Amino acid sequence: MNFQKICILGLGYIGLPTASTFATHGVNVVGVDINPHVIETLQGGSIHIHEPGLRGVVESALASGNLTISPKPEKADAFLIAVPTPFYEDKVGEYDGRKYRLADMRAVISATEAILPCLRKGNLVILESTSPPRTTVDLVKPILERSGLKAGIDFYLCYSPERVLPGQILRELIENARVVGGVTPESAKAGHALYATFVKGQIIETDATTAEMVKLMENTTRDVNIAIANEFSRLAEKFGVDVWEAISLANLHPRINILSPGPGVGGHCISVDPWFLVEAAPELTPLIYHARKVNDDQPYFVLGEVKRALGTLKDKKIAALGLAYKPDVDDLRESPAAEVIHLLQLEGAQVKAWEPFKPEAELKGIDMATDLNTAFKDADAILLLVKHTQFADFDPEDIATRTRARVAIDTVNAWNAEEWQKAGFRLVRLGVNKK
Ligand SMILES: NC(=O)c1ccc[n+]([C@@H]2O[C@H](COP(=O)([O-])OP(=O)(O)OC[C@H]3O[C@@H](n4cnc5c(N)ncnc54)[C@H](O)[C@@H]3O)[C@@H](O)[C@H]2O)c1
Repeated sequence: MNFQKICILGLGYIGLPTASTFATHGVNVVGVDINPHVIETLQGGSIHIHEPGLRGVVESALASGNLTISPKPEKADAFLIAVPTPFYEDKVGEYDGRKYRLADMRAVISATEAILPCLRKGNLVILESTSPPRTTVDLVKPILERSGLKAGIDFYLCYSPERVLPGQILRELIENARVVGGVTPESAKAGHALYATFVKGQIIETDATTAEMVKLMENTTRDVNIAIANEFSRLAEKFGVDVWEAISLANLHPRINILSPGPGVGGHCISVDPWFLVEAAPELTPLIYHARKVNDDQPYFVLGEVKRALGTLKDKKIAALGLAYKPDVDDLRESPAAEVIHLLQLEGAQVKAWEPFKPEAELKGIDMATDLNTAFKDADAILLLVKHTQFADFDPEDIATRTRARVAIDTVNAWNAEEWQKAGFRLVRLGVNKK
């Protein structure tokens, strides 16, 4: 199978690295996005997202002429869809008193419809967006078949989940094992052949719905495991235990691997994808539902920690460090840190947030500091919400000279209690209540 030209719809954290990697491996790629800012930025030779190494790969892909950027798809041998699949902000479903989020599949629908006029016999279409079970066969296939062509007969259709780790995307794109699920075995083979252009990890063929479930099961497992770690953090406080110590001791058991508690679960994947399973079968997913609730409620637990440290929050000035949903990335989507800040403000606290990976971020109702010292100015307390390396590496003696705050609250187990106490701080740690 020969793929000389492909179209990739959606040039975000997944689509742009994928498009530029195909291009640097000799494939002629048309990168498509509906956001004019994305188009202009890329056409101007720059990039709009932070991902280590990405700028260089995009630059060489553009310079080679193999990557072009366009607002519309063109006729090609294959089409990849990597558009967002969030949940609706303003709609919920309900089952047995449990309210759950609903998948917003509008971007997948419009991207699939945009391919329609370009679809030709022998083409391959791959959905990469994380999607509810059966999306490929029940949503994408009927749209594409409006062309008069039959999926699996006239064109190949696959689902292939993306499992890269932000911060490591370019390496993992190539090295990770990749699951390719076809609506027919021939479709899976075609998908396999396309990814073989650059994937060095194993490429495994299966059916489309299994491939969708694989992705959802992976992220749901992490969500449930983080939920139990978060519950352990609450229990540890009740029983006068250091949850981090208890977890590290429990993890000495050869078959136990408890994850880390924290201020909650964010990002576009783990805090979203489990809802796709709940929506698809609410009667079968009470555990998944409750894990989601535990993680969504964790910012309230952090609020309690801050009150434990400061008493009343009215007019207290707090320097909040980190807004990203995880360490060392600039992605603020579904950030639990933002949720914590909103809760603190509702209690009357004045919060200045500092996010070194996105200092210019505009988040509704959040007062962003322009640098660390501005965040520290007049602060009564420092609240660590994300374990960015630069925060974990803080020297408390140095921090003591930059702020009048003498209370530090660590929600991510980044700071050493003894060192911070020696530097004159009272350090309150999430999940730690050891007398
Ligand atoms: N970011 C990750 O780490 C990650 C990992 C695995 C899977 N995923 C999944 O991959 C998919 C894409 O995620 P992302 O992080 O790249 O999203 P993103 O928001 O970074 O990028 C998506 C891009 O698609 C564009 N877009 C929206 N509708 C479009 C349309 N109809 N046609 C063309 N472009 C359109 C947007 O303008 C945006 O630039 C999602 O389903 C996500 O769940 C993401």
